[in-house]
Amino acid sequence: MNLSRKVQKLLTAEALESLWEHAKRWTHPVDTQQILDGLDRKAWADLRQRYPHRPNAPRINRFSDADYWIKINVERAQDLWLDRSPPLRVLDLGCGPGYFLYVCRCLGHEGLGLDLDEQPLFRETTALLNVRRVIWTIEPQVPLPDLGGKFDLVTGHRVCFQKTVRWGIGSGEWNEWEPGDWEFFLDDVRSRILKPDGRLLLDFNPRADGHSFFTPQLRNVLIAQGARIFRSKALLAADLTKRPRFKIA
Ligand SMILES: C[S@@+](CC[C@H](N)C(=O)[O-])C[C@H]1O[C@@H](n2cnc3c(N)ncnc32)[C@H](O)[C@@H]1O
Repeated sequence: MNLSRKVQKLLTAEALESLWEHAKRWTHPVDTQQILDGLDRKAWADLRQRYPHRPNAPRINRFSDADYWIKINVERAQDLWLDRSPPLRVLDLGCGPGYFLYVCRCLGHEGLGLDLDEQPLFRETTALLNVRRVIWTIEPQVPLPDLGGKFDLVTGHRVCFQKTVRWGIGSGEWNEWEPGDWEFFLDDVRSRILKPDGRLLLDFNPRADGHSFFTPQLRNVLIAQGARIFRSKALLAADLTKRPRFKIA
């Protein structure tokens, strides 16, 4: 099969998977407006004035746009069946502005974020959303901190913590974790952070070549660790012998 046909097939499979996700959400709609109604509109308008986005910034990078981001995070929660599950304890790695944990709370769950403290905007949005976060830098081969008990669900959306910059003379170069770094991280999350029935969801950014979210090496290491890969997402069960499930039984 030539390359363009392979790419065409990939696009078609992805389009079908995206359609499937939409269809599944229609079966259990969530009242997003009710979640939006919980926001202090005046405080958000003030925040947007103080953090204006660049005029040509893509919407996905406008983190002060609460309406847009809450809709995205309602979908993320629906995809994990959080709108129809008993209350869970959720840890969001690289929680950024905190919208996912805010939506989780509106759906009855208890959440904790973990992130760097580099972006003043995220400091303010997490405070406005009343999202608790631990300031921590995830590093290769370093265990996560003690977070006070185990979690039913650990998430990472549009993860970047696996990217490390290696400085040369006058410039930096991005490197990604090696398979051994992923194995260490997954083992740490499974053994120390997740409850025995817990799940870990990692959602990856599209790559610069635009064709995939995973390199073959990353896909292989995740699959060897029992991950189910669906579009940009890798879902893992705490117990390596169990099939990870998006849907909560
Ligand atoms: C693209 S943003 C995604 C934010 C959020 N998860 C979302 O999708 O809405 C990536 C987040 O990961 C955080 N991050 C990047 N490297 C990290 C690291 N080594 N340890 C912890 N957080 C990190 C950034 O501070 C940022 O909040």
